[in-house]
Amino acid sequence: MSMRFIVSPGGELNGELRVASDKSVSHRAVLLASLADGASEISRVLMSEDVCATISAARICGAEVREEKGRLIVSGTGRLKNSAPEIDCGNSGTLMRLFAGIAAGWGLNVRLAGDSSLMRRPMRRIAEPLLRMGAHITVAENGAPPVDIANGGRLRGTAHNLEIASAQVKSALLLAGLRAEGETSVSEPLATRDHTERMLEVFDVRVRRENLMAAVSGGAQLSPARFGIPADMSSAAFFIVGAAIAGGEIVLKETGINPTRTGAVELLRRMGARIEVLDAREMGAEPVADILVSGGELRGIEIGAADVPAAIDEFPALFIAAAAAKGETVLTGAGELRRKESDRIAAMIAGLRRLGVECEETEDGARIEGKGEKSAVFSGGEVDSQGDHRVAMAFAVAALRAKSEITVLDCGNVATSFPDFAKQATAAGLRIVPEND
Ligand code: S3P
Repeated sequence: MSMRFIVSPGGELNGELRVASDKSVSHRAVLLASLADGASEISRVLMSEDVCATISAARICGAEVREEKGRLIVSGTGRLKNSAPEIDCGNSGTLMRLFAGIAAGWGLNVRLAGDSSLMRRPMRRIAEPLLRMGAHITVAENGAPPVDIANGGRLRGTAHNLEIASAQVKSALLLAGLRAEGETSVSEPLATRDHTERMLEVFDVRVRRENLMAAVSGGAQLSPARFGIPADMSSAAFFIVGAAIAGGEIVLKETGINPTRTGAVELLRRMGARIEVLDAREMGAEPVADILVSGGELRGIEIGAADVPAAIDEFPALFIAAAAAKGETVLTGAGELRRKESDRIAAMIAGLRRLGVECEETEDGARIEGKGEKSAVFSGGEVDSQGDHRVAMAFAVAALRAKSEITVLDCGNVATSFPDFAKQATAAGLRIVPEND
């Protein structure tokens, strides 16, 4: 359903909240549990549209999934059915890419498709390395989905050297490698989120890791596991930026602080935000903490390629922070942002311009002239999220520093990652009203 956010200007963010659980970790938990032999018990799984698509995929492949007292019980058989109908991956690149690795490894005959955004996203990055392992996999001529996989027999363990820093590609290859002959290793150019590597260990699969390389041996059997899922740093980012640009004092409880995901916190601190990480502890194989944000005097910074992977999903929020900072922020080496749920460089720059911010896009980044004024930064008006959940939430938060109302169009996909965003944002102080078109 099409939906818009009407957000009144001003306010600040206060209070304590636990944002939605981590989407990346939830996908992996459901998928790995469905590959294990026996019942896994996972608490605090994100029940968003993306993860529900993953649950459907797990069911189609023979796993039993049920909710019991707020926990998800996923019973795998250790074997997958060898043929499945077309799997609808919805809006989720993570599901499509990780499942392609599983399907190739387990020898399924399946077609993977999705919504109009996903049907435009690049899939050669998984198809080519899987072909090298001996998979039978094809994508459309333009490199986009559908992804067709046919049982091609046992894969060959392969040493992959990735050119793109992508946790989805790395994970797809490691998952395929679980069923390959010999070892499959993946070396990446920069560290990307390592949830798959950490979680495989929880399911009793050994992962050999050295610097930027991770490897698994074929034939490993996954044992069922029991663990909980942290709150999502990528969802927390909207509140972190909101409190950094508008003030107030907000605590984001039990938030994942895996170092491969905390790039935005580092960048915002470099910009001058006051952010404290309190009570660091473990949850499953992931570190978590409570994050206290209490405003700051933001200034523009330079952000380069090395900063990108650990903050890859936080750039929509960071663009809002940059517009509210004093002076110029220059982002380079972030071409991957053009291949997300939308072209996030184009979508953010178009929206910022509509709101009166001086900025321009470059091929692999952007230049944003921060206004850095005490009062309003954004003019108010109508912006198009282009159906991208993170673009929608970023522009909603911008209203905290707007002169007049901001209307964000096409916000229905917020339910893919953060179904309660508007409710939690309202409780924290954002004057947001979701409206069905
Ligand atoms: C994800 C990895 C990232 C990220 C995406 C989720 C994952 O994508 O942008 O939202 O769960 O592995 P890439 O691996 O393509 O960079």
